[in-house]
Amino acid sequence: MIDAPEALPASRGGVLDRSPAPLSGSLPASAAEPLTPSTELPGSLTDSASPRTPIVRATPVEEIVVLDYGGQYSQLIARRVRDCGVFSELLPHHVALEEIARRKPRGIILSGGPASVYADGAPPLDQGLLELGVPVLGICYGMQLLVHTLGGRVEQAEVGEFGRSDLVVAESGVLLKGMPREQTCWMSHRDTVYEAPPGFTALASSSSSPVAAVEDSARGIYGIQFHPEVVHTPYGQAILTRFLTEICGCEPTWSAASIVEEQVRRIRQQVGDASVICGLSGGVDSSVAALLVHRAVGEQLTCVFVDHGLMRKDEGEQVIKTFRDTFRVPLVAVDAETRFLDKLAGVSDPEAKRKAIGAEFIRVFEEEASKLAKASGGRDARFLVQGTLYSDVIESGGGTGAATIKSHHNVGGLPDDLKFELVEPLRALFKDEVRAVGAELGLPERLVWRQPFPGPGLAIRIVGGEATKERLDVLREADHILQEEIRKAGLYRELWQSFCVLPDVRTVGVQGDERTYGYVVVLRAVTSDDAMTADWARLPYDLLETIASRMINELREVNRVVLDITSKPPGTIEWE
Ligand code: XMP
Repeated sequence: MIDAPEALPASRGGVLDRSPAPLSGSLPASAAEPLTPSTELPGSLTDSASPRTPIVRATPVEEIVVLDYGGQYSQLIARRVRDCGVFSELLPHHVALEEIARRKPRGIILSGGPASVYADGAPPLDQGLLELGVPVLGICYGMQLLVHTLGGRVEQAEVGEFGRSDLVVAESGVLLKGMPREQTCWMSHRDTVYEAPPGFTALASSSSSPVAAVEDSARGIYGIQFHPEVVHTPYGQAILTRFLTEICGCEPTWSAASIVEEQVRRIRQQVGDASVICGLSGGVDSSVAALLVHRAVGEQLTCVFVDHGLMRKDEGEQVIKTFRDTFRVPLVAVDAETRFLDKLAGVSDPEAKRKAIGAEFIRVFEEEASKLAKASGGRDARFLVQGTLYSDVIESGGGTGAATIKSHHNVGGLPDDLKFELVEPLRALFKDEVRAVGAELGLPERLVWRQPFPGPGLAIRIVGGEATKERLDVLREADHILQEEIRKAGLYRELWQSFCVLPDVRTVGVQGDERTYGYVVVLRAVTSDDAMTADWARLPYDLLETIASRMINELREVNRVVLDITSKPPGTIEWE
């Protein structure tokens, strides 16, 4: 499988879900703010749901369907449901009623969204949903839609309600039973519910929302104006849990162990006794996918690990050691450094570098696949393992079963005419679930928690110039120091990515009595949830000092270390 990096495409949810605490250690006073991007929900919750096709799912587990009305946090709702141990799937709001019914969900959640229920073209509610005999919970727009459709009153308020709000629970009903009378919650709306529909009980209010929660427990219809899925609603997870367990009657059975069991069964069914090939990058997605397939079909799987010489220090050996020695996975490791460096000679333009690396990767992979076929008497591998994640499925609007090879990464993007059938054991999983499955399968912590690393590797971190062996080695050593110190400080997991950049410039310095003319190393460390937005990490000063002085003392070629304090936007995470 060819999932070179762990860099996921945009997920619209998730910006708020794990606001990390400020990095530990002694923070500079001016930098003691938490490290997440803005925690405000943007007023305009972007586009309405794109036409997506549901994923083909054969898993016979209890399921909650989350209907996406285009809210920024729809994915997050699905993730939170899974955090409660219940499988959930995010489907577009316009999916056919039969499609939903076919899944026999235990409950349905209607997400938030940017539209006004009374506006022309607003996504409507298929009232057939309410006849399926399963509980329905509307969140934000989802609640307004229920209220509006069932005869309550929704209007635009004078002022919107964005951010933290105080919620007062007047009547706990079934949904809010056991919750404190006063609590904070996170709101993001301008339209407001003024009157609950006939037959409903208004449960709670906030200063700007006369009706902030409603229910008609006899019909199994519930609505909340606030966002239970974000961490800023402290009782949000408890409310979701209550809906799932007490109201929908779900058992919390969705776990890493159950995923492994289910996937192993499905892979065996799909693959039979055919051969399978997997491009291993050392990233968590390809590692977990490979281990799942190996657990399912053992030696029918061969992994191909292409070491392009652009990896971090010792990373290639770690991958080989883990898979070949520890897990005894049949592994072909190709040392292709020279080939890749030859292709990179004289190339400075970042896109040209990416292209050169991508094309060479495909060549090497094809060569190895045909060698394997020859070795097995001309029997080609029929299957290719691919680490597609659920976020990829959602974002690409895919899921029709006509899977495409990931195209958003240019290393490892294999051409369409490779005649493999895909095995995609992570297709229903979010990233954190992939990590949990990796841990369940015994993958070493270092691999489970590896930060994303771009497919073209260090080559795109030598900016403005050629990625020569000499520069790559300097960068690799600098990066190694950074990683060592970040890990020592216990900050590795708190950072989305931490790495060094080596611009093709030299600056003057003085060391001892000598004037030097050396490389500048740029330190880049960011926090992020999904790489769509990122904030520069406020690393402790002492740590920065240790890193800088180690680099200058230990690396003869380096005489200056600088820190990149640009967030994304306006910057990108990588420099090229
Ligand atoms: P930017 O720099 O666009 O990066 O903020 C977002 C995420 O994508 C990763 N990235 C890449 N991954 N091939 C990859 O496989 C690439 O060419 C590439 N460029 C950027 C980056 O590391 C970050 O996680």
